[in-house]
Amino acid sequence: MTTEYLDTGAASLARAAELLRAGETVAFPTETVYGLGADARSAAAVARIFEAKGRPQDNPLIVHIAAWEELGPLVLEIPPTAQALAEAYWPGPLTMIFRRSEVIPASVSGGLDTLAVRLPSHPVARELIRRCGFPVAAPSANRSGSPSPTTAAHVAADLDGRIAAVIDGGPCSVGVESTVVDLTGGVPHLLRPGGVTAEMIRAVAGACEVDDAVTHRLRDGARAASPGMKYKHYAPQARVILLRGSSEARAAYLREHAQEGDGALCFDGETSLPVPTMTYGREDDPAAQAAHVFACLRQADERGFRTLYVSCPSEEGMGLAVYNRLLRAAAFEVIELG
Ligand code: TXA
Ligand code: MG
Repeated sequence: MTTEYLDTGAASLARAAELLRAGETVAFPTETVYGLGADARSAAAVARIFEAKGRPQDNPLIVHIAAWEELGPLVLEIPPTAQALAEAYWPGPLTMIFRRSEVIPASVSGGLDTLAVRLPSHPVARELIRRCGFPVAAPSANRSGSPSPTTAAHVAADLDGRIAAVIDGGPCSVGVESTVVDLTGGVPHLLRPGGVTAEMIRAVAGACEVDDAVTHRLRDGARAASPGMKYKHYAPQARVILLRGSSEARAAYLREHAQEGDGALCFDGETSLPVPTMTYGREDDPAAQAAHVFACLRQADERGFRTLYVSCPSEEGMGLAVYNRLLRAAAFEVIELG
């Protein structure tokens, strides 16, 4: 198929909504990453998402809505904690998991009886969903396994010819996918860290448990609370290795171990590394790191790096989201430099 490239004007959004209404897939910007949308009520439309991405059928999708009132019909119950979190952080980079109603086909949730829902803050995403008048299922608009797209060019590189259209809304501001929190148990359970931090959830809900899989490899045979966490993820072609330690220790390590063709993803101001570098933000600025990390992973492949050594971010606040993505890109390979 020929992919249509759309701007964010009214005529383009009308065209995108028309395609979605016809059961096609359309990529659109959100504040986190670009999403690949389809009509969440239609199993046939949603099947096109899985096919275009090459996504495993058991990896559930997030359903996007444009207003709080649209949540009720999609879920069996809205716990009071969810209402409080929505008041605090919706619209925004927070996805909440509820018990799924019959309105949404089971295939959207990869067969689970729960449903992930998000109300994005990006004006283009909201206007598009509002024009559709139905909930829009949307995973990140990348080929399954590759880094999430934060520009329309990233979407095109992965999905051109496989989807009906892409809306170009410029770069995404947050840069990593939404926080995913499960509210179907008692205490909010954080499955994927993002722009709404565990501390921010605790401030509203009183408590928040962080799933083990956020920072640890799943043990063989263990069941993933979030199926997405069991797959290799966010990975460029280059081998990625995290280096934890001081800038001086990293420079010394690379002087000894780096080979021709290797590169580094480092903090702003880390100038003494003996390999070609890209920077992804100041060491104390996780929001900047989040905004740049996926574009840098893609750039590593454009530059043909064989191994990409990454300055390991802090796990504090939003740093946990950046660390979680890099850890998966690195298939959990971290070198401790003391
Ligand atoms: O920021 C975002 O969330 C972006 C934009 C487009 O909204 N979307 C996104 O979707 O990142 P995706 O499909 O790439 O990631 C969804 C994650 C996966 O890890 C999936 O396993 C988890 O959410 N998930 C979805 N539904 C779930 C459910 N019912 N139970 C547990 N985990 C779920
Ligand atoms: Mg994804």
